[in-house]
Amino acid sequence: MCGIVGYVGPQQALDVVVEGLRRLEYRGYDSAGVALVTADGLATDKRAGKLANLDKALAENPPPPATSGIGHTRWATHGAPNDVNAHPHLSRGGEVALVHNGIIENFAELRDELERSGTELVSETDTEVAAHLLQRAYDALPAGQGRLAEAMREVCRRLEGAFTLVAVHRDEPDTVVGARRNSPLVAGVGTAEFFLASDVAAFIAHTREALELGEDQVVEIDRERGITVTGFDGRPAQAREYHVDWDASAAEKGGYAWFMLKEIAEQPAAVADTLRGRLTDGGEIVLDEVRLSDEDLRDVDKIFVIACGTAYHAGLVAKYAIEHWTRIPCEVELASEFRYRAPVLTRSTLVVAISQSGETMDTLQAIRHARGQRARVLSICNTNGSTMPRESDAVLYTRAGPEIAVASTKGYLTQLAACYLVGLYLARVRGVMYGDEVSAIVEQLRRTPRLIERTLARMDAVRALGRDLATAPTVLFLGRHVGYPVALEGALKLKELAYIHAEGFAGGELKHGPIALIDDGTPVVVVVPSPRGRNVLHGKVVSNIQEVRARGARMIVVAEDGDTAVEPYADEVIRVPQVPTLLAPLVTSVPLQVLACAIADARGNDVDQPRNLAKSVTVE
Ligand code: F6R
Repeated sequence: MCGIVGYVGPQQALDVVVEGLRRLEYRGYDSAGVALVTADGLATDKRAGKLANLDKALAENPPPPATSGIGHTRWATHGAPNDVNAHPHLSRGGEVALVHNGIIENFAELRDELERSGTELVSETDTEVAAHLLQRAYDALPAGQGRLAEAMREVCRRLEGAFTLVAVHRDEPDTVVGARRNSPLVAGVGTAEFFLASDVAAFIAHTREALELGEDQVVEIDRERGITVTGFDGRPAQAREYHVDWDASAAEKGGYAWFMLKEIAEQPAAVADTLRGRLTDGGEIVLDEVRLSDEDLRDVDKIFVIACGTAYHAGLVAKYAIEHWTRIPCEVELASEFRYRAPVLTRSTLVVAISQSGETMDTLQAIRHARGQRARVLSICNTNGSTMPRESDAVLYTRAGPEIAVASTKGYLTQLAACYLVGLYLARVRGVMYGDEVSAIVEQLRRTPRLIERTLARMDAVRALGRDLATAPTVLFLGRHVGYPVALEGALKLKELAYIHAEGFAGGELKHGPIALIDDGTPVVVVVPSPRGRNVLHGKVVSNIQEVRARGARMIVVAEDGDTAVEPYADEVIRVPQVPTLLAPLVTSVPLQVLACAIADARGNDVDQPRNLAKSVTVE
């Protein structure tokens, strides 16, 4: 939520900053702005709306050259998304420019203090307060090296809430200063040039060497002095160095109309990468990043899976697999609700937190709550250098690569793969499954990337269906067992991308109320379980299909190859390859992603940047 970029080095700062903002625009697109330290002072421009508006303004009125600068792309919290509230915000005399991600919770009191001492604030934002405070702190310090960083530390000590701040000062053309608390910030280390950003995508075209900054740290990037990291208290602090294992091309559209389409297409490889090296030929599961001992895991008597949105749906699937394989009770909770209901947590509780970004504030706070109660936390995360892995007892990285489209696709599928690995690992460690049973599932898992690929190869009819459904006012999704979370995920994708009312239901629940929604022609997408294996489920879902159809619904059925029993009741059948029941979401989710994307596209929506949303939700 909000993308931030800072740069100092030999290149034209404007080019680097705007390019960085382009790569971060998925984090927020309510407004965008830049501030550059030029020979004539600070040059700023900021515009409501997408980055294209800023681009146009800068092209019409190019700022003077500069070798340091900052930029921001906003997801509005305080104040409407207009030009005035756009970042950067300037101090009263225009000496300091500052950008911010997060919410300063004590801003009202600080604003009051500033106003009482005669500072006039021009915007409705909490951010502007920090800009004025920074200028005040700077003015009160003696001239000398590190003055802006010291002023930043002073300000941060006064702020409450979550914030990443990045600032420049008119008189310090070689320095950019950043700070973070509960909000992401990474530094990039190039050759004689340095970067600050909300995530590495902003500077990946320039360097793949990054520094992960910790909580309550201030970082100064300076052309001469390089990078200096301290705590808010001024003490030198350590930041972990890491190498980003993907390059700029991974964050490009690569010929696809939308990032989402590219990311959907990347799913077979992303799932294969997530499994790679973690499944031995002997059926052993190797989770090298899990830092909990086998003994710790043998003690686990309760599992909570916590996550938000799409990751929560991955967690719902995980519950079926984990309970089935380990026989440990497993609950799945929305991270935003978890800590507010005082869940029962002990040292023997394992909390599995799932997050693509590793920065979702609701999930992060739930992790902190769980660890505060002595529970162990294992994070499933896609983003190296993000906060969640650092704050967990163990981490299993999904290897989806950068996910740029706001709607998660490959992030979700790799989360599913990682959940299966965790389930099998626990089952093995606790001795509740024999080696050959694990090997058999491992073999099935290994086949899934190819099955996802085969599913993707059949999507023409789904795209055509998408165009046909573009004017539907409502679409319902039904599923049972692991098909239920798939239905929820199908509905979420459609809501967020197409802005169509969509809801997912457990097939059995329909008759308890939601069936009243069915009208003549209402499209209902049903995720049908395999008739092989748990046959009883299949029969029940076929009955559900008939109940809905009898009320006039248009039945769109997702069914595996060879399932002919559904044909008499389906208006459309979307075929997927045969997959063992528990692993089926890895393929049945795919047509629903394609369908949502096609409907949104047909409606003329921005598929990658749906309205009101942003990737990486860093506020509660
Ligand atoms: C929907 C979507 C969101 C995220 C949710 C959690 O397509 O992407 O629902 O899944 O905001 O995000 P992460 O996984 O980054 O914690």
